[in-house]
Amino acid sequence: MRFLGTTLASLAALALAGATAVPTANLKRHVSQLRNSYDFVIVGGGTTGLTVANRLTGALPSKNTLVIEYGDVHFAPGLFDPPTNWITPHPDAAPTWDFLSLPNPEMGNRTAFVQAGQVVGGSSAVNGMFFDRGSHLDHDAWADVAGSNWNWDSIFPYFRKAVTFTEPPSAIAQRYNYTWDVSAYGGAGPIYSTFPPFQWADQAVLDKAWREMGIRPATECAGGDKEGICWVPASQHPVTGRRSHAGLGHYADVPPRANYHLLVNHQVVRVLYPNGPKSGPPLVEVRSLVDNQLFNMTVSGEVIMAAGVFHTPTVLQRSGIGPSSFLNDAGIAVVLDLPGVGSNLQDHAGPPVTWNYSQPYEYFPLPSEMARNASFKAEATAAFDQPTAHGPYTLAGGNSAIYVSLPHITAQYKDITKKIRRMATDGTAASYLPPDIRSNAAMIAGYKQQLLVLAELLENPSAPSLETPWTSSEPPGRAWAFLLHPLSRGTVRLNLTDHLAQPLLDYRAGSNPIDFDIHLAQVRFLRGLFNTPTMQQHGATEIGPGATVAADDQALRKYIKEQTYLSFFHPCCTAAMMPKPKGGVIGPDLKVHGAKGLRVVDMSIMPFLPAAHLSATAYAVAEKAADIIIGDWN
Ligand SMILES: Cc1cc2nc3c(=O)[nH]c(=O)nc-3n(C[C@H](O)[C@H](O)[C@H](O)COP(=O)(O)OP(=O)(O)OC[C@H]3O[C@@H](n4cnc5c(N)ncnc54)[C@H](O)[C@@H]3O)c2cc1C
Ligand SMILES: *[C@@H]1O[C@H](CO)[C@@H](O)[C@H](O)[C@H]1NC(C)=O
Ligand SMILES: *[C@@H]1O[C@H](CO)[C@@H](O)[C@H](O)[C@H]1NC(C)=O
Ligand SMILES: *[C@@H]1O[C@H](CO)[C@@H](O)[C@H](O)[C@H]1NC(C)=O
Ligand SMILES: *[C@@H]1O[C@H](CO)[C@@H](O)[C@H](O)[C@H]1NC(C)=O
Ligand SMILES: *[C@@H]1O[C@H](CO)[C@@H](O)[C@H](O)[C@H]1NC(C)=O
Ligand SMILES: *[C@@H]1O[C@H](CO)[C@@H](O)[C@H](O)[C@H]1NC(C)=O
Repeated sequence: MRFLGTTLASLAALALAGATAVPTANLKRHVSQLRNSYDFVIVGGGTTGLTVANRLTGALPSKNTLVIEYGDVHFAPGLFDPPTNWITPHPDAAPTWDFLSLPNPEMGNRTAFVQAGQVVGGSSAVNGMFFDRGSHLDHDAWADVAGSNWNWDSIFPYFRKAVTFTEPPSAIAQRYNYTWDVSAYGGAGPIYSTFPPFQWADQAVLDKAWREMGIRPATECAGGDKEGICWVPASQHPVTGRRSHAGLGHYADVPPRANYHLLVNHQVVRVLYPNGPKSGPPLVEVRSLVDNQLFNMTVSGEVIMAAGVFHTPTVLQRSGIGPSSFLNDAGIAVVLDLPGVGSNLQDHAGPPVTWNYSQPYEYFPLPSEMARNASFKAEATAAFDQPTAHGPYTLAGGNSAIYVSLPHITAQYKDITKKIRRMATDGTAASYLPPDIRSNAAMIAGYKQQLLVLAELLENPSAPSLETPWTSSEPPGRAWAFLLHPLSRGTVRLNLTDHLAQPLLDYRAGSNPIDFDIHLAQVRFLRGLFNTPTMQQHGATEIGPGATVAADDQALRKYIKEQTYLSFFHPCCTAAMMPKPKGGVIGPDLKVHGAKGLRVVDMSIMPFLPAAHLSATAYAVAEKAADIIIGDWN
C-alpha cells in the first residue's frame, strides 16, 4: 500500500512539475523483475548514480544498466515550497539518512548533525538548491594532488554540459541586480537552473555592507574566477519554480529505455570477489528492504559505486576493501588493504557572528511574514501555482554569498601558510591524522602533499577560503563564517559489532590546530560588518562574539568551539582520487586501486573540498565519469 501511495503522489507531483510521466517501464521492485545479469550495476540512485546511468544507457544501447537504490521515488519538493512557513521543514520532504557524528572533542564534544537523501535522486532531492561551482584554482589543486588531468579545463565543459541555465527576464534581473555571464553556461543538460523572480526585501542590506567592507562584486562566479560577492543560481525549473534534481532529469524525465532498470527499496550490502580482486567484476550482494531476502547480482562489465560519501566507504569496508587494521578489528576478511577508504572525511563548518538592532528593521516583506500573515501566505501560494510561478515560494533560500581569500581576510596570512608548510615537512603532520591511520606511511605521505598544495591555494588572493551565504538580516541577524578548505581529517567506519548499522562518523573538526587560526581570522574579518555605514545606520549591535571576546585569542577560540556549526551538509573525500602510495582509493580513471571492474563516481572521490556547495560539482564529476566509462566500453 505504501508503494502505491508513493507512486500516485509521485505521478501527480511529477505531472505538476511538467515531467512527462513516471516511466514505470523501468522501475523495478523485486528481484523477479530483473535480468539475470547486467553489464553495469550502479550502487545508489542519487545525484551522481543517476547521472551516470542516464548517460551510459543513452550512449550504449546494447548494454544493460541496473541502478540499485535504497529509497523510493518521491516528488521531492523544493526547500521552501508550499505549505512551508520558511521555518519548519516541508511536511512531505523526501526521506533522508540522518546521522549524528561521534562527539567532537575539539569542539566541546558536540556532535555534527548531517543528512543525505534516501530517495531516487539522492541528496539532490533534499538539498538547499544553492547551485555554485568551485574556483578553477580548487580544481587545478585537486589535479595536482590526484596526479591527474582532473583540472579545471578538463571539468569545466562538464559543468556546462550538465545544466540548462535560463536567464531571468530583464525586469527581474534589474529589480534584484542579478548579474551573470552566459559563457559560464550554454549547455543543454537535463538539470535546470535559474535566478528566481523573487528576493526578500532586505536582500540589498548585506549586499551593501559587503561592498562597504571592500569585497568586490563579481559579475559571474561559475566560470572559474570566484572571489568576491557572487550571485548564485538555484537548481530549479525556470517556469514552474520547482526543484530540479537527478530523480527527474536523469530518471523520470528520460523516456523509458529497455536497457535502464532502476531497482528501489534495495540495499547493496557489499561486493564479492570470490576469486580475488583481480578477477572482476565483482558480484553484488543485495538485500530487499521489503522481505529482507538476500541475492547476488551477476555483473559482466563493472560495478559503479555512487552510494554517497558515507555509504560508498561502508559498502567497500563490508566488502573487505579498506584499512586492514580496521577490517581485522571488525572481523572482516581483507580483500584489499586500502587505508584511504572512509578516511580523509571533510565538511564545511564554521561559527556565526550575530547581531540585533537598536532601531526598527523595517522592510516588507521579510521571511517571517510567511508565518505571521495568512493573507500574505495565501497570495504566495497562489503565485507559486501560476503557469509561470512567482512570489516567495520560488526562492529556494538565497542566491548570493561572499567568497573571500585568506590574503583578503588577514594581512598575516603568510604566518598561517608558513605554519602549514612547516607541519608538512617537520614530521608533525602525521600526529593530526585519525588515530587508526596515523602511522600508515601512505596516508602520511598523501596528507603532507595535501597540506603543501592547500598552503599554496590559501596563499592565492583569488582562491576563496571563507564563504558567507546571504540570509535575511531580519533580527537577530546572523552570518556564517564557513571554512572552505579545512585541514582537519575525519573518518567513516563501520560499527564494529553490527556492520549493517549506521556507520560511525568521526568528524574531528578542528583536530588540526591551524584550522582554528583560520577560524579566528575569519570571524575577526566578518565582524567588519559591524563597522559598515549600512549596519551602523540600522543600529546593528553585536551579540556574538562581541568585541571583548574577539580581542582575546583564548576567548575567541572558546566561542568558536561552542558555536561552530559542524556540518553544512557538504561531506566529501572518503574514497579520494590519489595515487595508492599516497593513500588514495581510486585513480584518474575512477577505478579502485587493485580491484577489477569497480569504480567510484560520487562525492567521495575528491581529495579535498572545493570552495562550493557540492551538487553542481557532483553532476560535473558524474558527467565526466560517464564519458570515461563510455569511452572504455565503446
Ligand atoms: C540537506 C542537504 C542540503 C544540501 N544543500 C546543498 C545545496 O544547497 N547546494 C549544493 O550544491 N549542495 C547541497 N548539498 C550537497 C549535495 O546535494 C551533495 O553533496 C550531492 O548531492 C551528493 O551526491 P552523491 O551522488 O555523492 O550522493 P547522493 O546524492 O546522496 O546519492 C547517494 C544515494 O545512494 C543511496 N544509497 C546509499 N547507500 C546505499 C546502499 N547500500 N544501497 C543502495 N543505495 C544506497 C542513497 O539512498 C542515495 O540515494 C546538500 C546536501 C544535503 C543532504
Ligand atoms: C570530551 O569527552 C572526553 C571523553 O569522554 C572527555 O575526556 C573530555 O574531557 C570531554 N571534553 C569536554 C570539553 O567536555
Ligand atoms: C541595485 O543596485 C542599485 C545601484 O547600485 C542600488 O541602489 C539598489 O539598492 C540595488 N538593489 C538591490 C535590490 O540590490
Ligand atoms: C553470494 O555469493 C557468495 C560468494 O560466492 C556466496 O557465498 C553466497 O552464498 C551467495 N549468496 C546468495 C544469496 O546466493
Ligand atoms: C533584539 O532587540 C529587540 C528590540 O530592542 C528586543 O526586543 C529583542 O529581545 C532583541 N533580541 C535579542 C536576541 O537580543
Ligand atoms: C499581510 O500581507 C499583505 C499582503 O499579502 C499586506 O498587504 C498586509 O499589509 C500584511 N499585513 C500585515 C499586518 O503586515
Ligand atoms: C553498534 O550497533 C549496535 C547494534 O545495532 C548498537 O547497539 C551500538 O550502539 C552501535 N555502536 C555505536 C558505537 O554506535
